[in-house]
Amino acid sequence: MLRRLHHEQPASFAFTPANQAWAEAQITKYPEGRQASAIIPLLWRAQEQEGWLSRPAIEYVAAMLGMAYIRALEVATFYFMFQLQPVGTVAHIQICGTLSCMICGAEDLISVCKEKIAAKAHDLSADGKFSWEEVECLGACANAPMAQIGKDYYEDLTADRLREMLDEMAAGKVPVPGPQNGRYAAEPLSGLSSLKDFDSGKTKYNASAQRAVDIGDSIKRIDGTEVPLATPWLGQTAAKKPAASKAAAKTTSKAEAKPAAKAEKAPAKAATEAAPAAAGSKPAALSAPKGGVADDLKMIKGVGPKLEKLLNSLGFYHFEQVAAWTADELAWVDQNIEGFKGRATRDAWVSQAKVLMTGVETEFSKRAKKDGVYE
Ligand code: FES
Repeated sequence: MLRRLHHEQPASFAFTPANQAWAEAQITKYPEGRQASAIIPLLWRAQEQEGWLSRPAIEYVAAMLGMAYIRALEVATFYFMFQLQPVGTVAHIQICGTLSCMICGAEDLISVCKEKIAAKAHDLSADGKFSWEEVECLGACANAPMAQIGKDYYEDLTADRLREMLDEMAAGKVPVPGPQNGRYAAEPLSGLSSLKDFDSGKTKYNASAQRAVDIGDSIKRIDGTEVPLATPWLGQTAAKKPAASKAAAKTTSKAEAKPAAKAEKAPAKAATEAAPAAAGSKPAALSAPKGGVADDLKMIKGVGPKLEKLLNSLGFYHFEQVAAWTADELAWVDQNIEGFKGRATRDAWVSQAKVLMTGVETEFSKRAKKDGVYE
């Protein structure tokens, strides 16, 4: 397939402030003089923001990294994961067309895409909401046929279910990722023949699907409204927009932007200096535990005695409180657990609390109770 830039290009590109800070922080991961190594994550973030990679976006990233445009273009055109043409505003559907999926009905899924989206792959639907393409094996063959939509996998698909999902997405809903036929994960369709004591009731959905539901950004563009972008290697869970992003901020076209020999230095410095953002909003807090008895928050993996005290001092005593945190509130908590920043997201406290509040034990809580070892 010939991969070249789309014939229609936007006039300019700029990262959102949050994405700019994230991108500049990524650059600090690499040794001096090797900042170009950040090319793939930066191009990917640009795509996550816009849905596809335009020429101004590629040039913007190249300028940030002090690279010649042609080198950034080589990367963008080499990897098929980069979309070089506009994709649907709601979702881009990637149907796996490799062996297992093909045997199990991928052609029917492709027919649905042709019927409901566009006759040709990569063309937009009439309303601009959807686009599709056939891709190679996505490594979920045990749940064939499947499709990647946005960040997540939708497995065990049928033509009818895909049709239904497209209607749901068009109506503004996000179908729960994972198997679509009632399977929990990739266990045998006929039921378990071994590992029968496997506790599939730990979370409502399997681990990755549950995480996708908790984060809730399956088909959403990364626009700065999500959970703060973590930069733990800088000791930060989120970074504010640095004062300067000179190398790239004004890039609008090839003619205007020149690769800056020292461009890599400014972002690294700016990201290091960035202060943690006052992100999110504080969840509802209690002045004392309900009924005078708090839940043992140490049953949540990642919460030790010290952190439990800190959470109590912030007004959090119960699993049900933690389970109800929204992404925005989780961001606030991550920012305000001094000395443990980012841990609430890292250890998926919300998912754990959702299980614990029902009285069901998690693997961790069972072990913690048995051994008395927390975190
Ligand atoms: S063949 Fe489709 S995921 Fe592997």
